[in-house]
Amino acid sequence: MNRENRLRIALTKGRLLDKSVELFTAMGLDCTPIEHPGRRLVHAIPNYPLDAVLAKAPDVITYVEHGVCDLGIVGKDTILEQGRTFYEVLDLGFGKCRFALAVKEGSDFYGTYQTRRIASKYPNVARAFFEKKGMDVDIIKIEGSVELAPILGLADAIVDIVETGATLRENGLVPIEDVAQVSARLIVNTASMKLHKEAIEDFIARCEAELERRA
Ligand code: PRP
Repeated sequence: MNRENRLRIALTKGRLLDKSVELFTAMGLDCTPIEHPGRRLVHAIPNYPLDAVLAKAPDVITYVEHGVCDLGIVGKDTILEQGRTFYEVLDLGFGKCRFALAVKEGSDFYGTYQTRRIASKYPNVARAFFEKKGMDVDIIKIEGSVELAPILGLADAIVDIVETGATLRENGLVPIEDVAQVSARLIVNTASMKLHKEAIEDFIARCEAELERRA
């Protein structure tokens, strides 16, 4: 916290951002600047010593890990895929979804001895899942709209995020197994946790109080 005694938090842009802002507002933080961000990526919270940085999920981890951000809010999906070193201090309870193994409706995924091909945006998560089963599979990394891979015949199955299940359904796919549960997490840089203990503990306590109120 080199920065005039202000903590810096990296927030994941997209689906988690609105929920993060909702949480902060309920904690008493004035989030007006983040609610109307324009193209600006760094926003000072006027009534709390915190600057918010808007970043893509994998970059949230990178910034926190390198200590240029003290804190971060990121999905467990990205944490499971990227791993690396930081403290995961709170399950924030929003952004809930799951990783599932899904196949084309009617296909018998386990009914063959041939090596299965698995498409995923999360190759490490997929690899770990099948390693645990002792199953040898080929993993194909896809950047998005992974549901296309089985439709086009590129893969026998996908490991992907399922939230409502609509994307799978509308593409003729069915989930056959849960891989992991996902939700937004508060992460903290390991050095910041020691160096700015008081400030970080105050922030965590405010988060916890709001989460308890919601429970
Ligand atoms: C995610 C995920 C699924 C979809 C699941 O994709 O990869 O495609 O959401 O949501 P549902 O169960 O509610 O239908 P995202 O929209 O993030 O885009 P992507 O496919 O380009 O990664």
